[in-house]
Amino acid sequence: MASAGALHPVNAHLMVGPGCSLPPGRYAYDPLEHRARLRGPAPADAPPGLAVVLTVTVQRTASHYGHRAWPLLLLDTGHAAAALAMAAVAHGYRARVTLNADAAELAAAAGLPAPGRWHATWAGTTPEQPLAAVHITLHADASGRFDRRPLTTWAAEPFAAPPVAGPASGLAPGPAGRRAGAVLAALARSADSAVWWPAGSPPMCEGPSLARAIARRRSAPPPLNGQPDDAALATVLTSAGESSPCGPAWCAAVGTPPGLVVADPAEPRVLRLVAKGEARPTLAVWAARQGWLAEAGAVLIGEGVPDGASAEQVRVAHLAAGYAVACAELTATALGLRTRPIGSWQAADLGAALGGRAGRRWILHGLALAAPLPVSLPSRSERR
Ligand SMILES: Cc1cc2nc3c(=O)[nH]c(=O)nc-3n(C[C@H](O)[C@H](O)[C@H](O)COP(=O)(O)O)c2cc1C
Repeated sequence: MASAGALHPVNAHLMVGPGCSLPPGRYAYDPLEHRARLRGPAPADAPPGLAVVLTVTVQRTASHYGHRAWPLLLLDTGHAAAALAMAAVAHGYRARVTLNADAAELAAAAGLPAPGRWHATWAGTTPEQPLAAVHITLHADASGRFDRRPLTTWAAEPFAAPPVAGPASGLAPGPAGRRAGAVLAALARSADSAVWWPAGSPPMCEGPSLARAIARRRSAPPPLNGQPDDAALATVLTSAGESSPCGPAWCAAVGTPPGLVVADPAEPRVLRLVAKGEARPTLAVWAARQGWLAEAGAVLIGEGVPDGASAEQVRVAHLAAGYAVACAELTATALGLRTRPIGSWQAADLGAALGGRAGRRWILHGLALAAPLPVSLPSRSERR
């Protein structure tokens, strides 16, 4: 799974109901030992299947990125939600995702302290901030529908044991970590009920090709030169755009001809030019001066969250952007393209740069793309 700075701040809490390969109970995934560790029992009426609450250990990302950490933590969680949902779909299961559930409900379902109560409850342990959840089942229920509220039964259970020590255990959050944690806590409060939507296979990743794309996906090292052909780029844009009902809008900056393109909604394998002019050097500056982006084959960008957007919109748009880039990476991988996600966008006001109103179209996430590397023929000496 991709992660900003390879810091992997996302934790998975597993609520295992009947019909799974583990006995029912609450578990925490231990990435160091690749094991699910039992934290507590399951309620007698636990719903079938597996509910996974995704939390972040803020300090892991804040240590490196400081004040830029909170959007990256949301993007990373979106990538993790997609990784889980896609792995489930690749194995023939059904997966549903929620990106707007209230943090208090997520914490209660996972048997974690309520937001703001971590230190008072479990002093000396590393706090986690819940942000999203995925529900995985073998089938819909007998009536053909999913359990509408898969976290509710779990949320009524008492606390489970604290999670096992992770890579950042004992690391007290510094000032940047405390600030990023406070931002995320404010964004993850929601008065609305959780909206669950079904995860589908990305384009070009139906059946066994999804499992192959998951196994092959890696971030390619820059430079990422070589513009992908139009049909491939349009298919990757469609993959990002169709990944969830939560947005954001996607376009791509290319050099030939220089401009911004989108996938034609009527013909998803065809590109439509929506703005003329070379945008990649500006994108390179906005993305913390990563100069190689100016020459990238294409830079996919997700934009939205106008000034004045609600806390819930800010959170959902960033989570959905991470989810979308993860799906777009799989489609690109299946097409043989090279990819690298891009975070750390600063003052990246796409709308204003295109002559529109300022503060309406902020770039949230990106994906650099490049055509497949040419297959090199063996040299004469290798042929001998
Ligand atoms: C949210 C997010 C933001 C990222 N931002 C950048 C970036 O700005 N520049 C870059 O070179 N790589 C970026 N990456 C790629 C990571 O460095 C890469 O995913 C990580 O090193 C793990 O490698 P892998 O993707 O091959 O598993 C980002 C990844 C994610 C998920």
